[in-house]
Amino acid sequence: MKIGFIGAGPVAQTIAKHVLSVGHQVVLSNSRGPESLAGLVAELGSGATAGTAKEAAEQDLVVLAVKWWDVQKALFSVGDWRGRTLVDTTNRVASVEPLMLGDISGRTSSEIVADLAPGAKVVKAFNTIPMIWMSDFSASKPKTAFFVSGDDAGAKKVVSELIEEIGFYSLDLGSLAEGGRLQQTGGALVGVNLTFSERFRLPTID
Ligand SMILES: NC(=O)c1ccc[n+]([C@@H]2O[C@H](COP(=O)([O-])OP(=O)(O)OC[C@H]3O[C@@H](n4cnc5c(N)ncnc54)[C@H](OP(=O)(O)O)[C@@H]3O)[C@@H](O)[C@H]2O)c1
Repeated sequence: MKIGFIGAGPVAQTIAKHVLSVGHQVVLSNSRGPESLAGLVAELGSGATAGTAKEAAEQDLVVLAVKWWDVQKALFSVGDWRGRTLVDTTNRVASVEPLMLGDISGRTSSEIVADLAPGAKVVKAFNTIPMIWMSDFSASKPKTAFFVSGDDAGAKKVVSELIEEIGFYSLDLGSLAEGGRLQQTGGALVGVNLTFSERFRLPTID
């Protein structure tokens, strides 16, 4: 797949390194333009390029990895989201010092993201695990479970398969409203790091 990233900070970079390592290609974007990403794409190596947010959104899969306060501007800069699969990694942190959560008026943050990207198939993923853990590529590290939530089964399958392909387990929590609530900032599963050794594989349910 060719995977576009809206955002090029630690989250985008870490996921990009993982997907590049299994043969996918990435297009990274930020707020300052593709030229400012020349050093990063050179560092990431073959398969990585820089583009605008709009170009990133044209890829097979799009990862949203911007701060909560930049979400609306970033999504609006793309315009037409119809039919695109959008992976929402964001956390609704409105301010870091003091720590304040953005007002989402009883909804889930990914439902707000979906509202701002009409027509997109939004899948919430990658938001509960600190990137410091995900960026440890050592072979001895136990496998971690990543949560996925979304309302489109096909889009969720694509994201779940990608998570498994890069060496993690994928756990489907259900819809954006139900699963999204569990995994969003303030939810019960944030910071929960479920790790499994190969001896204790997750059971499959048919
Ligand atoms: N860090 C973690 O461990 C972690 C883990 C899980 C989830 N998260 C969540 O993931 C999201 C990203 O985190 P991060 O630490 O990678 O953030 P970050 O370091 O602040 O990076 C954000 C990126 O978004 C870009 N950006 C801002 N506005 C944009 C726009 N309009 N169009 C395109 N790109 C834009 C920024 O580009 P410029 O620099 O050019 O402005 C920057 O590259 C946040 O919502 C965070 O809460 C973080």
